[in-house]
Amino acid sequence: MKKYILVFILPFILFYTSCKSQRNQNNEVTKEYKITSSYILIPVEEKSKEIKIAVQFPDKKTAEYYWIRIAEDKPDYWVKLDVGEYKNKTIKIGFENASQVSSGIEEIYQSDKFNIQYEETYRPDFHFSPEYGWMNDPNGLVYLDGEYHLFYQYNPYGNMWGNMHWGHAVSTDLTSWTYLPIVLKPDTLGDIFSGSAVVDVNNTAGFGKNAIIAIYTSNGKTQQQSIAYSTDKGRTFTKYNGNPVIPNPGIVDFRDPKVSWNAVANQWVMTLATKQTVTFYGSDNLKTWTKLSEFGDGIGSHAGVWECPDLFPLEYNGQTKWVLTVSLHGGPNGGTATQYFIGNFDGKSFKPDILPYPLWMDYGRDNYAGITWNNIPDKDGRRIFIGWMNNWDYGNNLPSKFFRSSNTIPCQLFLKNNGKHIILASYPVSEITLLRDKTFDKPDIHVSGESSINELIPNNNGSYELTFDIENINTNEFGFQLINNKNEFLKYNFDLLSGTLYLNRAQSGLTNFNDLFSLGMGAPLVLGEKYNVRLLIDKASAELFVNEGDVTMTSLFFPTEVMNKLIFYTKNGSINIHNIKVYDIK
Ligand code: FRU
Repeated sequence: MKKYILVFILPFILFYTSCKSQRNQNNEVTKEYKITSSYILIPVEEKSKEIKIAVQFPDKKTAEYYWIRIAEDKPDYWVKLDVGEYKNKTIKIGFENASQVSSGIEEIYQSDKFNIQYEETYRPDFHFSPEYGWMNDPNGLVYLDGEYHLFYQYNPYGNMWGNMHWGHAVSTDLTSWTYLPIVLKPDTLGDIFSGSAVVDVNNTAGFGKNAIIAIYTSNGKTQQQSIAYSTDKGRTFTKYNGNPVIPNPGIVDFRDPKVSWNAVANQWVMTLATKQTVTFYGSDNLKTWTKLSEFGDGIGSHAGVWECPDLFPLEYNGQTKWVLTVSLHGGPNGGTATQYFIGNFDGKSFKPDILPYPLWMDYGRDNYAGITWNNIPDKDGRRIFIGWMNNWDYGNNLPSKFFRSSNTIPCQLFLKNNGKHIILASYPVSEITLLRDKTFDKPDIHVSGESSINELIPNNNGSYELTFDIENINTNEFGFQLINNKNEFLKYNFDLLSGTLYLNRAQSGLTNFNDLFSLGMGAPLVLGEKYNVRLLIDKASAELFVNEGDVTMTSLFFPTEVMNKLIFYTKNGSINIHNIKVYDIK
């Protein structure tokens, strides 16, 4: 009997092993690629459903799994798998639900070239954006030997969220960035979610003096905290074989460790987002962690799960205060935003000062999940912050193609009094002024009704900076509008009666990629005699700073033509506009 079975199935076995493509009953196709080139190129179409692929490299015990929108119809763009090191070897790729994208699978090919279409309408000039693919939160911000490292949540396989890796870039001046290879990719513990990095100056972890150690969330069946180390200035990382260093204790949302050396505690302190609180952990060696305390019940906004906390000291009137920032879905103007608390940290627990919480870092809709750099030298002493310039309400739908989303401008954080109470203010780092090219000085304007500047910059390419002072305020409502010839505009309205600064972007160009994009924004405005306005415009983003960070509003907009005209207006009464300067940005 056995003999007959063998005679019957042998031809099939032979057929399948010599064939480069196999299909099983679960509609799964496995293909073998004999590697001849540097890349395997895969066509992606954003409207396709994601399918799961399993990539089996010949030298790896386990496969790598990715979710890719393989083109069902016509590719929007291509993504690559780096395979150059496997020349003449065979890589197997399994495709789940293969029939749905069979034509796309057939189109996959090998090449030594991967064309990055860098230039597109909404590609920023002076903000960091990924070379291609999707980016969200900044991660692992750390300074070492003249380099500001920026790691970030990255999907190299598409322009929507998924397959979280850590991408990497460095800068020596916080204004121009060099792309470096991905440092962390998903593993058997899960995707690589947000986290931080430290320089282990005293070799507390035993990976080497001055090793950069990344502390991140492994997002698998549960969320747990893991570490990886680099002894080559952040170029490559090795995952610690004792991961996870903090296993999941039964909390679903348990992520985004921010670790810094804490001089008060005399140990490493981690802030971890734990559902709707921040849990503080302490460690001497970054490998074993002890819970110190938990903060957040009954204070601040609890409109959504807390994410990406950060804890750092700032000087205020000769005193050290501690600031705790937390991002969440449920910001003051809808969608995602970052709230903060100011108080004291005694090495174990955080005690907030009495303030009118919730307080928000930025009242625009597009500054999320920001954290601050570790290891900035004492002689510099700044607390530098960068956020993801996007909002989870519509982040995946932004009208860009080959890359999706950018970061805010790096800002220095300060504690100051806004006339009512202490606030956390942010203001662009001074290096940004070095980007200014030609300056266009405009004459002062007395505004009573409406006055405009018809051309801000000749041949404006859409990246520029605008500063002016609003003085002699003799009205309760006034504002300004950036506008183009198609009547697309961004409108900032100062309403002194309600003490609110409004931003309207409902008719700012492309808005219909998501219904929530057009919602208005409002920020609390403290009444003053004068308002200094600074606005950074970079193709598709507007970052407004009033009175050096008393009010910050970061907002995306997608004009179909550059807004090169400025209109000032008052409702009754008048204002004077002084010191109007427009800077072309290099
Ligand atoms: C915040 C966040 C984090 C998480 C990461 C995943 O935007 O949701 O909490 O670690 O994004 O990409």
